[in-house]
Amino acid sequence: MPERGAFSLPERASAVSDCRLVDLPRIHDPRGNLTFLESGRHAPFAIERVYYLYDVPGGETRGGHAHLELQQFIIAASGSFDVVLDDGRERQRYHLNRSYFGLYVPRMIWRELDNFSSGSVCLVLASAHYAEGDYIRDYADYCRIVDGLPR
Ligand code: TYD
Repeated sequence: MPERGAFSLPERASAVSDCRLVDLPRIHDPRGNLTFLESGRHAPFAIERVYYLYDVPGGETRGGHAHLELQQFIIAASGSFDVVLDDGRERQRYHLNRSYFGLYVPRMIWRELDNFSSGSVCLVLASAHYAEGDYIRDYADYCRIVDGLPR
């Protein structure tokens, strides 16, 4: 197994069934609607980083990795795209097309994002700052690691 540096493996593997679509609060207003999300209330972690994907060319795929420790919350802030989640045994595809739904992704879940609509924005709230050492970028490597963890 490759050196994982400062990042530790979890005691148990995560499952696709641990991921969930969260229906966020909606404040309807004739001036325009508003949605909010609070750490500990809607996202089960403290938000340390925000990033977003935009100008994704048609047919492109993003993601293609898992994280040893990072938890994320993925929102289609504009437009739509699909998130494919994989725990080494099961795969589930979510179509995100509403800015008031967020997809919670715990640590150690493989994810791929595709089917981006034109002009879409994928907003990601993350539990830690960016760290390349937290990534598992090879699917076979990912499967080997989760196969060694209790479920
Ligand atoms: P990556 O996470 O692989 O993109 P995605 O999963 O969305 O397809 O990141 C792509 C590149 O951007 C990679 O070189 C690392 C860099 N990056 C940062 O510098 N900071 C960040 O917060 C993120 C998410 C990526």
